[in-house]
Amino acid sequence: MKKIALTGIKPTGIPHIGNFLGAIKPALELSLSCEARYFIADYHALNSCKDPDAIRSMTLEIAAAWLACGLDPAKVLFYRQSDIPQIFELLTILLAFTPKGLMNRAHAYKAMLQANAEAGKDPDDGVNMGLFSYPVLMAADILLFDTDLVPVGNDQFQHVEMAVDIAQSFNHVYQTDALKLPQPLAHETGKTVVGLDGRKMSKSYGNIIPLFAPEKILRKLIMKIVTNSQSVEEPKDPDSCSVFALYKSFADPAQIEDLRARYLAGGMGWGHAKQELFERMNEVLTPYRTRYEELMQDPGYIHQVLRDGGAKARELAETKIHELRKIIGIQ
Ligand code: TRP
Repeated sequence: MKKIALTGIKPTGIPHIGNFLGAIKPALELSLSCEARYFIADYHALNSCKDPDAIRSMTLEIAAAWLACGLDPAKVLFYRQSDIPQIFELLTILLAFTPKGLMNRAHAYKAMLQANAEAGKDPDDGVNMGLFSYPVLMAADILLFDTDLVPVGNDQFQHVEMAVDIAQSFNHVYQTDALKLPQPLAHETGKTVVGLDGRKMSKSYGNIIPLFAPEKILRKLIMKIVTNSQSVEEPKDPDSCSVFALYKSFADPAQIEDLRARYLAGGMGWGHAKQELFERMNEVLTPYRTRYEELMQDPGYIHQVLRDGGAKARELAETKIHELRKIIGIQ
């Protein structure tokens, strides 16, 4: 029996290279050996985004991005959270098994309190109940589909552990194993993708390379990567260099060794190293970019894929919620 892998994708619009290497690629690799269920977490986005056009376009873009990167909807159950009403019914059930104190301990919530304290504001300023109970909705996303593995970034580990706590509390009360206990799975632990300035690639640092940047922009951004002031002649250290770090994620082992040798030998300037990186990245990314542009010309197709996935996911969800209703006596 294949394990069930499930993850939620926040609708953030077009992803960057960090999202691609850190989340999309590993999740798609995992989908080859698991029964994968990947969904767009659109109701999670509502907690922080009240712009309907933005929600619509970010959902479409993120769905197109995953499809362009190779998600095969015939093999991966791909749906929108909002198309599965049973998730929200399970949320209501799970709320009754979630101690408020557990939510108080959530890192994401504590970070909001801290930021407010630092800004001299009321501790709960700007914190709506959706944000506060975010981990419970996430638990519903996970537990409804009998999930074994949840591929996520380290920042989401605690949320998955909370889903386990909540499931255990439910199972204990009814002396059942109806809720399967999920396991978080780290996306390539410890490996962070560096941005243009050498810090972690992140939208909030303004140091990203968009995944589908047109060729010219891609080249321009790569030329902006911060390097040191060593001259062309000097031998260079590949292991402390952002250009080389990115190159390693796109090149094959022989190409990596070749460039490493050229760093160590000296006689290669930063402009050359960057040109090598650009050529390699452009070669890998061009088919994805082309496919993304094609998909975005045909939003009807993307919506159809999500609707079909939603219909299949609802069938699974309906069976599960029926089982849970019986257990709790609401049926
Ligand atoms: N919270 C996740 C994030 O911020 C997205 C998410 C929502 C999720 N529901 C999920 C991830 C369920 C895994 C499982 O990235």
